[in-house]
Amino acid sequence: MSISSLEQVRNQVVSCTKCDLCKTRNNSVPGKGNHNAEIIFVGEAPGRSEDKIGEPFVGPAGKKLSDALEYAGISRESVYITNVVKCRPPNNRVPSQAEKESCRNYLESEIALIKPKVICIMGNTAYQSILGGKNITKERGKFVKKDGKLYFLTVHPAAIIYNQKLMDSLKNDMKKLVNEIKKM
Ligand code: URA
Ligand code: SF4
Repeated sequence: MSISSLEQVRNQVVSCTKCDLCKTRNNSVPGKGNHNAEIIFVGEAPGRSEDKIGEPFVGPAGKKLSDALEYAGISRESVYITNVVKCRPPNNRVPSQAEKESCRNYLESEIALIKPKVICIMGNTAYQSILGGKNITKERGKFVKKDGKLYFLTVHPAAIIYNQKLMDSLKNDMKKLVNEIKKM
């Protein structure tokens, strides 16, 4: 079934019961941001703060992301931010294959409706789920073309909380991303 507007995606996500994560969530977390964005950022799944508020990347990882975007001169309002899975897995465990598959249609609809220039993949869960990739720390900073879509790979902002050195990686990647987008 196709979804024809972002409003419809939001409404379906908010009341979705397609996988068991609906039983433990407080709020589902639809994507948020500019509906004409040139860049869509894709994380893994909501964490504690996101589950509480119902918006993506509003906790500590979100702060890292905001800082890196600001460093590169990208405003959060100009982009669209979402996750592979829209409900928080208990204790922030990695979402299962079944959960990712249940939720897949929402991300696909967000991408199809916004038609961004670039889909920025943050971290291994999104990398594996969208491109079948494995080692984002090795592949980060690269563009990948697949099925007529352009992807850019970077680290997950939450990884920076455990390894401060990755902040430079994220900042440098964001600079590279804006510079390349300006040329498109
Ligand atoms: N981590 C994610 O992957 N997504 C969020 O929205 C917040 C933290
Ligand atoms: Fe639905 Fe996705 Fe939430 Fe599962 S994670 S209940 S598929 S919105």
